[in-house]
Amino acid sequence: MGGRLPLFLPWLLLLLSSHAVTAISFTVDDFPDGFAFGAGTAAFQYEGAVDEDGKSPSIWNTYAHSARNPNEHSGDFASDGYHKYKEDVKLMKDIGLKAYRFTISWSRLIPNGRGAVNPKGLQFYNDMINELVKAGIQVHAAIYHLDLPQILEDEYNGWLSPRIVDDFTAYADVCFREFGDRVAHWTTMMEPNIIAQGSYDVGIVAPGRCSYPFGRDCTVGNSTVEPYLFLHYNLLAHSSVVRLYREKYQAVQKGIVGINLYSLCIYSLTDSAEDIQATERANDFLFGSILHPFLFGDYPESTKKAAGARLPSFSSYESELVTGAFDFIGLNHYSSIYASNNPDVSKMPVRDQAADIGALFRETRDGQAAIQYPPGSMVDPQGLEHVLKYIREKYGNISIYIQENGRPDDSLMDVERIDFLKAYIASTLKAIRDGADVKGYSVWSLLDLYEMFGGYKAHFGLISVDFKDLRRQRQPRLSAYWYSDFLKNNVAIQVENGEATATSHEQI
Ligand SMILES: *[C@@H]1O[C@H](CO)[C@@H](O)[C@H](O)[C@H]1NC(C)=O
Ligand SMILES: *[C@@H]1O[C@H](CO)[C@@H](O)[C@H](O)[C@H]1NC(C)=O
Repeated sequence: MGGRLPLFLPWLLLLLSSHAVTAISFTVDDFPDGFAFGAGTAAFQYEGAVDEDGKSPSIWNTYAHSARNPNEHSGDFASDGYHKYKEDVKLMKDIGLKAYRFTISWSRLIPNGRGAVNPKGLQFYNDMINELVKAGIQVHAAIYHLDLPQILEDEYNGWLSPRIVDDFTAYADVCFREFGDRVAHWTTMMEPNIIAQGSYDVGIVAPGRCSYPFGRDCTVGNSTVEPYLFLHYNLLAHSSVVRLYREKYQAVQKGIVGINLYSLCIYSLTDSAEDIQATERANDFLFGSILHPFLFGDYPESTKKAAGARLPSFSSYESELVTGAFDFIGLNHYSSIYASNNPDVSKMPVRDQAADIGALFRETRDGQAAIQYPPGSMVDPQGLEHVLKYIREKYGNISIYIQENGRPDDSLMDVERIDFLKAYIASTLKAIRDGADVKGYSVWSLLDLYEMFGGYKAHFGLISVDFKDLRRQRQPRLSAYWYSDFLKNNVAIQVENGEATATSHEQI
């Protein structure tokens, strides 16, 4: 989603390189059979063509045109993927991607939110999927990423209403029915665990709701309760879709269905009991608010205690619905962060979700307290290993796909990106050797996209896009050639202690 700060602090890497050096060298063959190396995009950030061929506006379109948008671009043309997907599939094939992860635009496929399917939208996704199949690339589709049809937001406040469950399930039914013969890897939705805060607490992503004194310049919303309503209806909608897939499609289509979480490695700032507990609470909010219901049919105790009656409770029917409702978990992972106890929370007369966590976050141990959302820009490859271990120890050995990992780097000679990816891929392999069931790794992003916070200025792509020109010309960066060497030519990756590449940062 581009949920990270465009700002990067290169010197952090230097600080991190002081560990004992243990070199690791590996090739793509060291990963388990069928491991899906890929790259990703998302509909609104990639397709453009916002009002073409019957597509209706989504909440992200609306938000991007509003005064609340934190970047200066509307995203209307994005990377023009709607017209250029064939060229992009060819580039994917040249790189040697095993898998491509994209998201489907609800308002392109079903412009009224429910009911009639738009034939042109259907054709676009069919054509793109066929192109991928022809190129021998696995199709990994996500059904939803932040682009609710505006018409449903207007009708019943979208994700804040239980009515979303039936509409989302009906939309997913169309996706499974129309594409499921070729798409075997389904993610229902992206990052609901952090979007709850971004969209409904601080209001800095669509639909941009929040309430005083939280967020900025809020006109509509309720930061105290809406993040929890959003989370609850996301869980129910997701689980309803999983039930549908299992009952109606899975036996024939033989695919898998899961959900995506935004992940951070959260370190306790000190060894004090208060800080360790604050870190556990933060992890419970970030991971447990989704994973705990999946495993145990209810929210974590610490979350229930912090949010009280503002957190909806599961009926016994709902509890049964969410329990076990996943085949895999997708993780978007970019960064690590330090947490300490926030002693002031108990004095607050009204709390938002962020305050309920009861933690303060900072980028470095001795650095300034930082960041509301998105938290973290610390480069810390070992953090990914820690997260995978944390999930395994707390929730069991569940199947994981790393669905987004990457960093901005404008240069065509994007050595910083290559170093970052090498170190995080090494961390993934180490986690697998340590017993994690990781089945795929996807770079964010395949090509430069319209980013949530940076607009056209934060460049995450293996392939650059010229946003100054509506032709949106593509040019592979050095990282595309490097990834291709790794995937197709069996070229080894060498890193020291998972993060050895810090030296190159000073040279650039
Ligand atoms: C938010 O909702 C709660 C519960 O309905 C209510 O008590 C509170 O006054 C609302 N806050 C705002 C800012 O509307
Ligand atoms: C987790 O599952 C994977 C895949 O089945 C397996 O290879 C791995 O050994 C398991 N890890 C542990 C710690 O049991």
